[in-house]
Amino acid sequence: MSVIRVAILGFGTVGEGVYKTIQSHEQELTAILGKKVEVAAVLIRNQNKVRTIGEKVLVTTDFEEILRLPQLDVVMEAIVEQEPSFTYLKKAIARGCHIITANKEMFAHHGRELLEIAAQHNVSVGFEATVAGGIPIIQTLRQLFHVNQVQKIQGILNGTSNFILTEMREKKQSFASALKQAQENGFAEADPTNDIEGIDAFYKLMILSKMAFGQEPKWNEVELQGIAKITSEWIAFAEKLGLRFKHIATVSKNGNQVTGSVKPVLVAKDHPFYSIEGVQNAVNIVSDIVGSITLQGPGAGMFPTASAMLEDLIFVLKNKAETVLMSKRVEDAANSIQQSKGVWIVDGVYKKRTIHSIHWISELKNGCYLLKAAAEEIAELAEQNKGLISFPIYGDVERLNQKESKLAITL
Ligand code: HSE
Repeated sequence: MSVIRVAILGFGTVGEGVYKTIQSHEQELTAILGKKVEVAAVLIRNQNKVRTIGEKVLVTTDFEEILRLPQLDVVMEAIVEQEPSFTYLKKAIARGCHIITANKEMFAHHGRELLEIAAQHNVSVGFEATVAGGIPIIQTLRQLFHVNQVQKIQGILNGTSNFILTEMREKKQSFASALKQAQENGFAEADPTNDIEGIDAFYKLMILSKMAFGQEPKWNEVELQGIAKITSEWIAFAEKLGLRFKHIATVSKNGNQVTGSVKPVLVAKDHPFYSIEGVQNAVNIVSDIVGSITLQGPGAGMFPTASAMLEDLIFVLKNKAETVLMSKRVEDAANSIQQSKGVWIVDGVYKKRTIHSIHWISELKNGCYLLKAAAEEIAELAEQNKGLISFPIYGDVERLNQKESKLAITL
């Protein structure tokens, strides 16, 4: 029986998960592909670390040695940062290999170029594992959204942030100890800065934007906030109101313009993300024919990410190369999503009288208000009140805990 030879670049949580899953699902892979899948090589960084890798596998710190293997069909990359991953994958493509990556930072920066080079060499690129861990969101957009015009995508895209917020609320853990646990569970990046600052979710959002709209917002115009400012006190206060903090990434298309944000949001009970807890991710797609669809599943960790990469292995071996991330979308003015007023909680208001168009619903505590306003009005309020903290509320605010929010006043 002929064999498919695979190299795994990186043997951290994800790389090891891919290695183990190729072994544990050998029979399934052979049945689907009609060929045995063999791991021919593993690229590592630290030679002194103890690993359980078969004797016949080339384990090396030198990528060139992998490229010189007599047969190499697929390169599966699970390293972090843009370089050297981008260079390795370009070389692998030039060698005629299909590539599969879990590296969202690299792919957000260089995905388009990789796809173009791959098309020139008639090989495929799998990047399901770059977004939302085990949720098959890339394939959903790729395969199932040909006729539908996507208008908006909203997601909980960072498992670590969602895990921390859940642990802080449910188990009253401190931010630091919840983060430590996320690291121990293999959810967080080696350097968790990108997780908690929202940068990881931002990269994933940009990849989704290219898939759905064929374009991205200007990166420096995307509102970007992580979860670091959410204290235990804020979480307890929100809970009293019947709200939960979620870190939500949103991208939408209005005419020709694509806009995005990545920030903590308060969600009400009816919102599809209210019950997305722990390391779960969720992605909500709003499109013109089908309406609103939500996919949810594990967003980080060894096996969810390995699952996405293994499904990609089948995809790249069975599919033709692609030249573009997504077909060009027909512009439709009816797609426009109007910017409208929403409900917010803001804290630290000392001057409120100057913005007359804001509807002040109630004062929750000294300087902390529930109000109805547009994002621009909140920005203006923040300019007048230095240090203002604001969180938008998604979902049905009429159902907020009436006693706490004094919502007797009609919204
Ligand atoms: N650190 C990432 C997360 C891993 O927590 O979501 C999956 O991309």
